[in-house]
Amino acid sequence: MDRPTIDHRGPEFARLATEVFAGLRAVFGTQGPVVVFPSSGTGAWEAAIVNTLKPGDKVLMFETGHFATLWRKIAERLGLTVDFVPGDWRHGVDPGVVEAKLSEDRQGAIKAVMVVHNETSTGVASRVPQIRQAIDRARHTALFMVDTISSLASLDYRHAEWGVDVTVACSQKGLMLPPGLGMTAISDKALAAAKQGGMPRSYWDWEDMLKHNAGGFFPYTPATNLLYGLREALAMLNEEGLPAVFARHARHAEATRRAVRAWGLEILCADPAEYSNVLTAVMMPPGHDADAFRAAVLSRFDMSLGTGLARLAGKVFRIGHLGDLNDLTLMGTLAGVEMGLTVAGVPHRAGGTQEAMKFLCDSAQP
Ligand SMILES: Cc1ncc(COP(=O)(O)O)c(C=O)c1O
Repeated sequence: MDRPTIDHRGPEFARLATEVFAGLRAVFGTQGPVVVFPSSGTGAWEAAIVNTLKPGDKVLMFETGHFATLWRKIAERLGLTVDFVPGDWRHGVDPGVVEAKLSEDRQGAIKAVMVVHNETSTGVASRVPQIRQAIDRARHTALFMVDTISSLASLDYRHAEWGVDVTVACSQKGLMLPPGLGMTAISDKALAAAKQGGMPRSYWDWEDMLKHNAGGFFPYTPATNLLYGLREALAMLNEEGLPAVFARHARHAEATRRAVRAWGLEILCADPAEYSNVLTAVMMPPGHDADAFRAAVLSRFDMSLGTGLARLAGKVFRIGHLGDLNDLTLMGTLAGVEMGLTVAGVPHRAGGTQEAMKFLCDSAQP
């Protein structure tokens, strides 16, 4: 990325953008369009709403954690009426509730079902294909929108095969880049909804974006240098192969969970079928503050663990295991956690790091 910025109206840029769009389609699992905004992931969320929905439209959302709650806030600010199904921040979206809510909605008032695939605040991954099946069983026409901001390119995800209409993602998680790119894969049904309606919009307008993208260009100045990085990230993913990338994340997540259990600590995610292979949120023993522990780890070992967000503040810490990670970086991380537990005086059993190491050796490819 540390190269001169090229002319974003010139032929070299068109080649770059065209290559990147094609690579992104493979990662999202679609042959359809993927647009890239110079924005954070939140911008892609806003674009999803303003292109397809209008004030007063009813949408179905689920309180799976902090990011689902933020998505609700944006929807309400934009005038949508949100049916927000309460949750305990330890479970993902219940497909049974999706089916029940949509089956009750005989008038078709619900215009979209919006879920977060991987809740970064809790380490819980909702089961997107099962949610799609629930929508189909209810024979409902609502758009299906999924936030893959912390799952894309880390967890198996298939926009087209799983019948998702709008998938939002960003650069700074599984794509291993700095922040600054917000991405959206769009189905034909969502494109049709955008053509017919949505809200007044300019910067976030998909149609304008797609018109320019067809020739390899943008309607305004793109984040050119991040696109250089994205081209390389896509090449890295391609070189390893997406199935191998997903398997690597699954293996590192399992090693982490074995370490946590061996320490005698509890994993926040309550259902093993919803364990996230992106991160593991660990509950602190009662009477111990997760942020004091995190501060000790940062000052002693220069390692930054994820904080507990909103209602989980002080109660959990999060171990990230996504992106450009290998066995040794994971072992360094887990060793830092185990040493930190000792330094901070958090009651635990020794040996979690050893358990993880044993699992990594036993499951290593020859
Ligand atoms: C699941 C999820 N959704 C949305 C967001 C918001 O994305 P951004 O901070 O890039 O706007 C995040 C950020 O971490 C996230 O993890």
